[in-house]
Amino acid sequence: MNRIFSGIQPTGNLHLGNYLGALRNWVRLQDTFECLYCVVDMHAITVWQDPAALRDSTRTAAAAMIAAGVNPETSAVFVQSHVAAHAQLAWIFNCVARLGWLSRMTQFKEKAGKNRENASVGLFAYPNLMAADILAYKATHVPVGEDQKQHLELARDIAQKFNNDYGISLFPIVEPLIFGPATRVMSLRDGTKKMSKSDASDYSRINLADDADAIALKIRKAKTDPEVLPSTAAGLEGRPEAANLLGIYAALADRDIETVCAQFAGQTFAGFKAALCDLAVATLGGIGAEMQRLQADPGFLDATLREGAERAQALAEPIMREVYEAVGFLARDPQRG
Ligand code: TRP
Repeated sequence: MNRIFSGIQPTGNLHLGNYLGALRNWVRLQDTFECLYCVVDMHAITVWQDPAALRDSTRTAAAAMIAAGVNPETSAVFVQSHVAAHAQLAWIFNCVARLGWLSRMTQFKEKAGKNRENASVGLFAYPNLMAADILAYKATHVPVGEDQKQHLELARDIAQKFNNDYGISLFPIVEPLIFGPATRVMSLRDGTKKMSKSDASDYSRINLADDADAIALKIRKAKTDPEVLPSTAAGLEGRPEAANLLGIYAALADRDIETVCAQFAGQTFAGFKAALCDLAVATLGGIGAEMQRLQADPGFLDATLREGAERAQALAEPIMREVYEAVGFLARDPQRG
């Protein structure tokens, strides 16, 4: 049986990069797989979060997921901290994973920076919690971006070592699902920098909460270069802004970059931007409005998340029982041989 798990952090402005890199793929997987989609607030507090802001961005992230097309009637949509299995299994994995494995994680090195002594222990153990997220449900497939591949490999190592140490084939070896030609969405103000929730300029990114006017304005103001558009992708070499905007068009239109270059070959940015505006507003414009509608109804969101947590909890429970038995926390169920 195939089961999908994925998570998104509830920190700040979710943007086009999150949509193309994660949410859109989550929506597509719902038709074929049983899916669990989680707002990972426990991961968020590995760095300091103001409690009121965290509460708020957790709701916003859930609203963004649903507004983008995740269907809470078919997929379990829930908040990580609301299902105890994540913390319970993470502790066990803290005792399975080796310090050496975690020391090699590039994301920790980047996020901790020079002042490692002052990083939280949680930031170091972050990948163990991520492995627990996935394996508490015995998920088999995990859609992630390139930046999370190393963490997923660690989840495989943890599953393998657990199975080995306890002499039981309890956990599946999860497979990453990396989508299409990785869409690296860059800043609209600087085509060499990743589009980021923390960029000081709001013009650098298209937020999922933006309405149609804001989307159109940001595309109109996006940085370009003086040339006309090339006829092939090779012609985008050394033109980061052109590459980014054509890449965004290709991703939103679900076409490859060569086809899009051929389509706009020789055109000015003005003409191309008008087409990109239409496409972006048509695909994304409804999301911001729907997020607003959902956020205006906190009762609905809370009930949806509660129900999602109950479903997730019911799936995790028998698995955690098996884990507790394997580890020696509970007596063995004689039925289980
Ligand atoms: N670490 C992931 C990110 O920052 C979020 C995440 C947490 C996740 N747990 C997960 C993704 C489990 C996939 C599966 O993007």
